[in-house]
Amino acid sequence: MKLKGQHLLSVKDLSLDLINELFTVAESMRPYAERQKVTRVLEGAVLGNMFFEPSTRTRVSFGCAFNLLGGEVRETTGLSNSALAKGESLYDTAQVLSGYSDIIAMRHPQPGSVAEFAQGSRVPVINGGDGANEHPTQALLDLFTIHNELASQGKNVQQLSLTLLGDLKHGRTVHSLCQLLGLYRGLKIQLISPEALTMPTKYVDILTNAGHEVEIGTSLEQGLPQANVIYQTRIQEERFSSQEEANRYRGYFRLNKKIYSEHCQPNAVIMHPLPRDSRNDANELDNDLNAEPGLAIFRQTDNGILVRMALFACILGVENQLHQYERSV
Ligand code: CP
Repeated sequence: MKLKGQHLLSVKDLSLDLINELFTVAESMRPYAERQKVTRVLEGAVLGNMFFEPSTRTRVSFGCAFNLLGGEVRETTGLSNSALAKGESLYDTAQVLSGYSDIIAMRHPQPGSVAEFAQGSRVPVINGGDGANEHPTQALLDLFTIHNELASQGKNVQQLSLTLLGDLKHGRTVHSLCQLLGLYRGLKIQLISPEALTMPTKYVDILTNAGHEVEIGTSLEQGLPQANVIYQTRIQEERFSSQEEANRYRGYFRLNKKIYSEHCQPNAVIMHPLPRDSRNDANELDNDLNAEPGLAIFRQTDNGILVRMALFACILGVENQLHQYERSV
């Protein structure tokens, strides 16, 4: 596959054919992810899992995905625990760590930092999120989830009517997702955010240039009735210049059972990249939705394992060798 030996720094690197191939590989990972089968196809390989910004799902699912393929994981978490805190450059860090690993996954708070790191790396690098810029593996698992959720309702992606809600200015997951949706034609996309947190123009342009019907709004109710998939996001308070400014928007759009039943289509799919802010003054996605069949947030996180296993297998060129390295369960 074209991904072999490549970095994954941006969704711009991906074509629709490549994504469809990757999703086929991701589906083939299901028996291994669900522990019905065991493969050791990456035995002896090492993942450098470098997370210089907080993470639960991305960091742990990268590690689990690599382990499920038989590989070992070495981790660094937090800038203050690394030599970057002593002034080492990303280039030098990359040269060193790529001597210890076969592939590196990295998250860093600065936009463009993972691409800078990749320039010094002798092994493939996967962007696990660089500031407010991009989160390509999240966008891939989100798109994979949209495919699967619509398929479970007898629909396909061409029938997608998607509402992106919340902090669309700072949310890197929605920035990457918009770029992937730019590979399709003629979808319905609603972009609903507070006035000051609208989707940057460059991503709106990608959607309109793809011929999507794009509606931009500022009220929650405006974006809900026409959507068969609702993608809620957290106010990214760590990206604001002050806590006071962030506090102005926390809890701005709260989706709960009452609003869902009154304004949304029956069984509309609800997604969220997580974490959801569960503090009382914020909770953008209420716990009273937890029993709704349309709530896909934990199917989304499970899909993260499949997609990340597929990425490791394809980048390391072993996607056709899983069976050869099977062990008894
Ligand atoms: N969705 C996501 O990136 O979650 P984490 O910050 O927990 O990795």
